[in-house]
Amino acid sequence: MNKVALITGANQGLGFGLVQKVSEIYGEGDFIYLGVRRTEAGEEALKNIKNTKANLEVIYIDVSKEETIEEVKSTIVKKHGGIDLILSNAAARISPTVPNSDQVENFVQTNNMGTYYMLKHFQPTLKINGKIIVIASAFGSLLHLDANLHHLFNIDAMSCDEINKVMQEYVDDVKSETDESKGWPQWINIPSKIGQVALTKIAAKKETGAPIERNISVFAVCPGLVDTDASRPFFKNMHEAQSPYEAAQHIIALIDKSAEEVTGKLIQFGKELPWN
Ligand SMILES: NC(=O)c1ccc[n+]([C@@H]2O[C@H](COP(=O)([O-])OP(=O)(O)OC[C@H]3O[C@@H](n4cnc5c(N)ncnc54)[C@H](OP(=O)(O)O)[C@@H]3O)[C@@H](O)[C@H]2O)c1
Repeated sequence: MNKVALITGANQGLGFGLVQKVSEIYGEGDFIYLGVRRTEAGEEALKNIKNTKANLEVIYIDVSKEETIEEVKSTIVKKHGGIDLILSNAAARISPTVPNSDQVENFVQTNNMGTYYMLKHFQPTLKINGKIIVIASAFGSLLHLDANLHHLFNIDAMSCDEINKVMQEYVDDVKSETDESKGWPQWINIPSKIGQVALTKIAAKKETGAPIERNISVFAVCPGLVDTDASRPFFKNMHEAQSPYEAAQHIIALIDKSAEEVTGKLIQFGKELPWN
């Protein structure tokens, strides 16, 4: 059976490293969709993928806009019947020189609601052995959050809609500059990554009742520090940072794991990171 993958934010950074890695393991008749919000940038990136037998195609997707995700889903399902691998990687950047109140709304809409829309629309399309891998971060753990706020991410009792509501209230708090007095950390990436991992863990629970032979995996990963335009402004010393291709290698190594080994987890370099 031919395989089909979709990688979002595929034109640069880690997303492009993931395209490089998947194009090495996918062969003749397989399809890799480069999901990008700037199609010219996607076509430019595509020129740098050589020596693959797989079919590569650029497809427009803006993960902050649910309708574009639905459109991509329809296109791929119509052509292939379902999907084998989703790498939900697209993410808005933050700048250390812009006030949080000016950037939090787009950041959460893209990184949190974007993850929610990807899970909502693509999880039902996964074929047998299908996988959704959400690119998150080691910061997506309650260990990085004030204990007084842990109840806001009670993954055992809450739905995805309830997590989305918490994130919308968080956005309002940042915009009104009341976030820090409520105990939220200063770096907006932390609550966002916790919300993203919470959504993934809750969505993964849907697979626990599925027949074992479906072998569907839904999980989050932390790539470790990767040298990209997004990370450089935050870290003075990038000596230890991996290239996007190196980081992609650790992530793609996980696609051979069974659903039982990975589903519902946040994984970094092959090991599960604690939630709390
Ligand atoms: N870099 C690190 O050290 C590091 C560490 C931990 C986790 N991560 C995670 O890894 C992922 C990728 O990070 P990165 O460093 O590669 O970031 P990046 O270089 O900024 O790349 C992000 C990609 O997402 C795309 N994108 C942004 N908004 C989008 C939207 N609304 N719809 C579709 N695509 C959109 C960007 O497209 P444009 O080119 O059009 O802007 C770009 O292709 C993120 O989830 C990040 O949090 C990274």
